[in-house]
Amino acid sequence: MKRTDYCGRIFSDKIGERVTVCGWVQRQRDLGKLIFVDLRDITGIVQLAFYKNNPEVFEQAFHLRAEFVIMASGFVRERLSKNPDLRTGDIEIEIERLKVYSKSQTPPFEIVEDSNASEELRLRFRYLDLRRQDMARNIIMRHEIAALVRDYFYKNKFIEIETPFLIRSTPEGARDYLVPSRVFKGKFFALPQSPQLYKQIAMISGFDRYVQIVKCFRDEDLRMDRQPEFTQIDMEMSFVDSDDIMSMVEGLVVKIYSHVLSKQIKTPFLRMSYDDCMRRFGSDKPDLRFEMEIIHLSDLLKETKFKPFSDALEPGGSVCAVNAKGAFDKFSRKRLDKLSEWIKRYGPKAVLFSKFALNASVSSSYEKFLTQQEIDAVRQKANFEPGDVLLLVASEDRTTCLEAAGALRLEIADVIDIQKSEHSILWVTDFPLFERSKEQSRLASKHHPFVAPKDEDIKFLKEDPEKVRAKAFDLVINGNEVGGGSIRIDDAEIQKKIFSCLNFSDSEVQERFGFLVNAMRFGVPPHGGLAFGFDRLIMTLLGCESIRDVIAFPKISTSLELMTSSPGAVSKEQLKELGIKIDD
Ligand code: AMO
Repeated sequence: MKRTDYCGRIFSDKIGERVTVCGWVQRQRDLGKLIFVDLRDITGIVQLAFYKNNPEVFEQAFHLRAEFVIMASGFVRERLSKNPDLRTGDIEIEIERLKVYSKSQTPPFEIVEDSNASEELRLRFRYLDLRRQDMARNIIMRHEIAALVRDYFYKNKFIEIETPFLIRSTPEGARDYLVPSRVFKGKFFALPQSPQLYKQIAMISGFDRYVQIVKCFRDEDLRMDRQPEFTQIDMEMSFVDSDDIMSMVEGLVVKIYSHVLSKQIKTPFLRMSYDDCMRRFGSDKPDLRFEMEIIHLSDLLKETKFKPFSDALEPGGSVCAVNAKGAFDKFSRKRLDKLSEWIKRYGPKAVLFSKFALNASVSSSYEKFLTQQEIDAVRQKANFEPGDVLLLVASEDRTTCLEAAGALRLEIADVIDIQKSEHSILWVTDFPLFERSKEQSRLASKHHPFVAPKDEDIKFLKEDPEKVRAKAFDLVINGNEVGGGSIRIDDAEIQKKIFSCLNFSDSEVQERFGFLVNAMRFGVPPHGGLAFGFDRLIMTLLGCESIRDVIAFPKISTSLELMTSSPGAVSKEQLKELGIKIDD
């Protein structure tokens, strides 16, 4: 016997034909004189029928259990009772020969779509989890998008160049994963946070257009959209400006949308500056599938005597609000208190609210402290109407206030299950080149140190570097940052100035990026590029809750891989060879 057909691809046109299929038993139903077996392979499920008039095979079928691996051969016939929920539901195969390849213990969870098994269990038995058709579909879609991406870039004359995994530490903002050197004891390789420097070197080498689908490694706190090792679609182009890169990327996104969602999306994509995004939505990755813009109240309240507001406004901070329109019923006092507590993690000093009942009575935690004029002004600006709930945040730091309001906006949208349009795609542009570290002590790159400043802002580099905007652009889909790119610095002098703003000493620059600075002395083309977070892109397109649902073998939030239990201990000999002693 040899396989002739895949389970999920046998339809009525095969009625009367002999077929042989292989796969895993989904379930066995013994009806006495007849046994049905649902057989699953990578393409789907088909029903096998075993009749008592073939006693030998019937006896074998009697012993089949879930997840046994079999091969079965027989004739396709029309089903008496059709199953409209199954693609192959019009037919069944009456089995004449059966071979059992392998038995299975009872699996720790049922292999079905929308499993309610815990994620921990699913990840420990990932090989069983990946047999579930929804998971398998995600992984296959990932493969199809990868193929499409390669095809797109090859057609556009990009050259695939592999870059090393054992490298010098590159500064992308996260912590490095380090690999000790056996030969040079006490020295370490780092795993790349991205191939950033190598792709720039590839441009300096003259390759013109580079692409790679590549693993990146970042030892950072994990979230639903982050993994310690993740994949980028990484590209770089020479002799281009931002528009060229953005339109190349848009062409790819159009193709991906058409393949995955059968949607024709329009180009060019919307562009919004970083400042506008922050001011209107309190985020540099705004979800524009719904409105609910931030309401700015600082000007209206600048004379207020109410301390939570005046304490924020006097040192130059802000008061902002979000109006949950018509959501009066959704926000009990208890829920509002909880929300106020939750939002404090974003750092606002004060969180206050007003509820406007349909019978026109307002209960508020702040109105009694404001003048009638202030109350009227706030209500008017916020378009505060019966049925609404208005949430206010105040902070002495404008950005903190905006980010808290932005987080409230998203949370409220979730709570009230706001109606969202199907998708929103935008470019966020004009990022600041630098940001202050949390301790306010020093400047750090908003993206990375090789991003070019806007020409007209170079003059601020020395006196007021925080004013300098970058030639950087992020691609944001449905509120997720799915890609980030920029034009790079191609002038050694400017690169030096940036390093100096970042407080890198000359020796540090030589030590860490000497090779790039040296390469810049030998003719650098204007160049730039972008990297998509491949996992995040797929997660966003498929509407998955977690990035782990689009990665075959992902890690959990503590960076553990549950199936293989890694990281694991190593032998004393291995450590000795590396010159490493573990301090208890
Ligand atoms: P950046 O750091 O913005 O840029 O990364 C590019 C994209 O990678 C995704 N991403 C992640 N996905 C999953 N888990 C993570 N831990 C993670 N970190 C980042 C995001 C992000 O937009 N070298 C530059 C690109 C360039 O300038 O060309 C870079 O790596 O979707």
